[in-house]
Amino acid sequence: MLVAVPAFAQPQVKPSQQPDVIYVPTPHEVVEDMLRLANVGKGDVLYDLGSGDGRIPVTAAKKFGVRAVGIDIDPQRIAEANENARRNGVTDLVKFRNENLFKADFREATVVTLYLLPDLNVKLRPKLLAELKPGSRIISHQFDMGTWKPEKRIELSGRTIYLWTVPVPPKKP
Ligand SMILES: C[S@@+](CC[C@H](N)C(=O)[O-])C[C@H]1O[C@@H](n2cnc3c(N)ncnc32)[C@H](O)[C@@H]1O
Repeated sequence: MLVAVPAFAQPQVKPSQQPDVIYVPTPHEVVEDMLRLANVGKGDVLYDLGSGDGRIPVTAAKKFGVRAVGIDIDPQRIAEANENARRNGVTDLVKFRNENLFKADFREATVVTLYLLPDLNVKLRPKLLAELKPGSRIISHQFDMGTWKPEKRIELSGRTIYLWTVPVPPKKP
C-alpha cells in the first residue's frame, strides 16, 4: 500500500519558473495501469516528466522494482515527492530533480510517463524522439501526441492511456 503525503504537510516554496501545466495527480489505480501498459520491468529506467508528488516513480520502484526519476519545475512538488519516496522506503531507487522538463536530460530513460497537455506533448515530441533510444516506451495519461499515432490507446478506470514506442531512425542515404 502506497503512503500518500498530504500537500498541507509540506513547507510552501514558490517555483522560480512558472509551470506549463498545473498540478493534477494521476489516480493511483491509473498509475498502475500506465506502468502495466508500458510493461515496466527489470532493467528499465523510468522518467516521469512533470512528476508532481512523485507517485509514478515511487510506484514504479515500489511495485515494479525499477529505478525511476521524477522531474518537476515546482520545488514544492519536489519536496512532496522526496517525502513520498522516503515514506515508501524507495529513496535508493528514486530521485527527483527540480528542472524544466524541456531542458532536462532524460536520455537514460527506457520508459517516459507524461500527464501534461496535448500541446505540451506535441512540443516535447522532437526531444523525445531525438533523445530516447529506439524501443523506449512513452506512456501518456489522457493526452495524445498530435499526428504521431499511438501504438495502443486504452480506456481504463475512466481514463485514456496512450502508448508509443520510439522507432529506429531511418538510415541516412
Ligand atoms: C498534471 S501534473 C502531473 C503529475 C504527475 N505526473 C502525475 O501524473 O500524478 C503536471 C506536473 O508538471 C509540472 N510541470 C509543469 N510544467 C513543467 C515544466 N516545464 N517542467 C517540469 N515540470 C513541469 C507541474 O508542476 C505538475 O506537478
